[in-house]
Amino acid sequence: MTATISRAEVTDAVEITALARLTFTETFGPMYPPSDLAAFLEAKYQPEIFAADIADPSQALFKAVLNGAIVGYAQAGPCGLPHADVTPACGELRRLYVKRGLQGAGIGNRLLDAALAWLEKPGRKLWVGVWSGNLGAQKLYANRGFAKVGDYKFIVGNTADEEFILRRG
Ligand SMILES: CC(C)(COP(=O)(O)OP(=O)(O)OC[C@H]1O[C@@H](n2cnc3c(N)ncnc32)[C@H](O)[C@@H]1OP(=O)(O)O)[C@@H](O)C(=O)NCCC(=O)NCCS
Repeated sequence: MTATISRAEVTDAVEITALARLTFTETFGPMYPPSDLAAFLEAKYQPEIFAADIADPSQALFKAVLNGAIVGYAQAGPCGLPHADVTPACGELRRLYVKRGLQGAGIGNRLLDAALAWLEKPGRKLWVGVWSGNLGAQKLYANRGFAKVGDYKFIVGNTADEEFILRRG
């Protein structure tokens, strides 16, 4: 069965929050002390925050639905990355996650297609931040024409991870 990709609605916020917490923990959880991870998720991954993001016309959240359940999501919007060349006109792929057991089946590529198509405007520079050790995601973005232009520290509790800043355009 093929996943269906579409724009998320505000009523999806609770389910997307649960998926976002799960996928962040599956991907990055082992890198942080449990208390730091829990505090980070509590602060950043709340239904109210996702509901506001979904309702915000300057952002778009795409969901992948399989057998009635949301199994992946991509979040796009204005660029918030700390780089000197970022302007209010820039766009950012803010998050891209697929549930672990369903990775490698093309869902991430299709979510990325939807998010990039929504972000693209003539002359608009697109940005993405990616963990320096996430070689799989770096390859995915390189395939779409993104190249490294900087780096920064992504803070979770007392841990500061090195993140690469990639840009296209
Ligand atoms: C990155 C992610 C969204 C890709 O989704 P997916 O459904 O697994 O990806 P697809 O099946 O569409 O395509 C796989 C592509 O992803 C890349 N990729 C992602 N993770 C990979 C891994 N662990 N190993 C190898 N390739 C990987 C490959 O370049 C592959 O490219 P291809 O198009 O040449 O085959 C998914 O693996 C995921 O959720 N990973 C954990 C979260 C994460 O790292 N998110 C990115 C944060 S910046």
